[in-house]
Amino acid sequence: MKFVLASKNQKKLVELSEILAHLGVEVILQSDAGVDVDVEETGNTFEENSLLKAKAVMEASGLPAVADDSGLCVDALNGAPGVYSARYGGPELDDEGRYRLLLENMRGQMPRTARFVSAITCCFPNGDVLTARGECQGTLAFAPQGEGGFGYDPVFFVPSLRKTFAQLSAEEKNAISHRGKALEAFKEQLEAYLKK
Ligand code: IMP
Repeated sequence: MKFVLASKNQKKLVELSEILAHLGVEVILQSDAGVDVDVEETGNTFEENSLLKAKAVMEASGLPAVADDSGLCVDALNGAPGVYSARYGGPELDDEGRYRLLLENMRGQMPRTARFVSAITCCFPNGDVLTARGECQGTLAFAPQGEGGFGYDPVFFVPSLRKTFAQLSAEEKNAISHRGKALEAFKEQLEAYLKK
């Protein structure tokens, strides 16, 4: 069975293909399915945004489509930056500008607890929808540490490992990350769905 990934990100394609390979599922990027839609992420939740993307690509391609949406939710900031993680502080900021703004906005704030959240939605042409969610709990570091990863990784501290996400190898991060957990949960759901 062929699935379309509602993304232009080759890394996400490899990650999803690997995890679904043994289910006999082939995953292709939306560009390889001839789909050129840029969906506005207007939802209030990660689930809503992943549904918007998956539904649009399923409708445009006629194939089952998978989309993900993720971000960082900080308790002391009422869940911000949340669904606005990629746009926090406006379009002129880069990854470093965004995490520095976050540290600035957290100055003097307590608690420093935060969680990464990832939602994955799969829409089928017959109207069926599968949704999986993964979370990873941590705290905000007081200063960036580590060179790996992307986005907010240098300021997301995992207390049990005493390291930020940016100090973990890709394998270490995948084993505990929001995205790794959501992918595992999605795999289980899809496996059960395909057996029906
Ligand atoms: P997307 O849903 O993959 O587009 O991610 C949305 C935004 O959330 C990214 O631009 C990052 O700012 C942030 N984000 C999501 N996952 C991670 C992660 O694993 N590490 C660091 N930042 C992340």
